[in-house]
Amino acid sequence: MSTSHGVILLGTGSSLPERSVRNGDFPASLDTSDEWIRTRTGIRERHISAAGETSASLGLVAARRALESAQLDPADVDMIVCATVTSDMMVPANACVIQAGLGCRPIPAFDLNAACTGFLYALTVAAQFVRTGTCRRILVVGAETLSRVVDFSDRTTCVLFGDGAGAVVIGPAEADGRGEHWFRLYADGRRADLIRLNGTRLRPPASCPAEPRITDEFDFLRMNGREVFKFAVRTIIELIDESLLECKLSPSDIDLIIPHQVNQRIIDAAFADLNFPTDKLMVNLERNGNTSAASIPIALDEAMRTGRAAPGDRVLLIAFGGGLTWAGGVWTL
Ligand SMILES: CC(C)(COP(=O)(O)OP(=O)(O)OC[C@H]1O[C@@H](n2cnc3c(N)ncnc32)[C@H](O)[C@@H]1OP(=O)(O)O)[C@@H](O)C(=O)NCCC(=O)NCCS
Repeated sequence: MSTSHGVILLGTGSSLPERSVRNGDFPASLDTSDEWIRTRTGIRERHISAAGETSASLGLVAARRALESAQLDPADVDMIVCATVTSDMMVPANACVIQAGLGCRPIPAFDLNAACTGFLYALTVAAQFVRTGTCRRILVVGAETLSRVVDFSDRTTCVLFGDGAGAVVIGPAEADGRGEHWFRLYADGRRADLIRLNGTRLRPPASCPAEPRITDEFDFLRMNGREVFKFAVRTIIELIDESLLECKLSPSDIDLIIPHQVNQRIIDAAFADLNFPTDKLMVNLERNGNTSAASIPIALDEAMRTGRAAPGDRVLLIAFGGGLTWAGGVWTL
C-alpha cells in the first residue's frame, strides 16, 4: 500500500517560567552589565525555572496548549517527539513524562537531541510518519531548562540562555496547498568542540563493576563564542539562499522568517548580507534569551497568538547549534 500525505501544522503552544531574570539582576561578581549584554546580544531578560519546574513540566504545559489550539484531545495523539538537551532524566525520556502527564494511550514517545536545531529535526522526523500515513496526529515539543547546565560564574555563556518550551501538533494536510514544502537537515560532527555539554560523566567502562557509581562532577555547557558566531551567520545566509533556490521562491513569497533565537547581532550580520526585508523577521530573544530547542516553537506560537503569522502564511524556519547541526524548513501555515 503506498500512501503519501502532505503535512500541516494544526496547533501551537508554549510555556515560559514565570520568573524573569533581567540583565541587571546578575550579581556584581559576574562582572557583566546590562549595556554589554544588550549591545552584544540584544538580550534584556530570560526566564529561569523555579524549583519543581523542569523541561518536562514546561513541555507538558506547552503540549496541552498546542492540543487546545488544535482542538484535539490527548486521545487523538499518535506519537510524541520531544527535542531537548536538558531532559529531566536520562531515563525516562521527557516525551514519556509528557505522555503520562497528558494521559495518552500507549503510543511511541521519544526524545531527540540535535541541540538548538532539535526542534526542526523533531518536526521533520515526525512529519515523515504523517507523510507515510503511519500516524495522523503527532505532538512535537521543544523543551529546555538551560539554567540547569550553564555555569552562572561564566559570563561568556550564562547571560545568553533561558528556559522554556514550545510545542506544535502536526497532521495530514487537505489538498489546499498548506503544509510542509521543504526541509533540510545537516550535521558536522568534526566541529563538535565548538559547543559542548558533557553533563554528569558516566562511569568509565573500565571501572565497572569495581566502582559502582557515576562521577559526581558536573561539566557545564562550554562554547567557543566567536567561532559559533561566524558559523551561525554563515548558516543563516546559506539556509535562506538554499531554501529560496530549491523552492523556487523569492523573498516576497515568504511572509515570516523564524530563525533560532540566538543573538540579535548574529541575525543582523546575516541579514546585512542578504537581500531580504528585515520586517519579515520574528525575533523575541530580547525577552527569552536563547532557549535552544524550544526557541523556534516558542517564537512560532507567539507569532500565531499575536497575529504576526496567520493560517495561509508561508514561513521559513532556520535553526543551528551544537553538533554542529543546522536545518531549515518552509511551511505554509
Ligand atoms: C558570546 C558572544 C556574545 C561574545 O561576544 P563577542 O563580541 O564575540 O565577545 P568576545 O568573545 O570577543 O569577548 C570580548 C570581551 O568581552 C568579555 N565578555 C564576554 N562575555 C561578557 C559579559 N557577559 N559581560 C561582560 N564582558 C563579557 C570577554 O571576556 C572579552 O573580554 P577580554 O577582551 O577582556 O578578553 C558572541 O560571541 C556570541 O553570541 N556567540 C554565539 C554564541 C551562541 O549564541 N551560541 C549558541 C549557539 S546555538
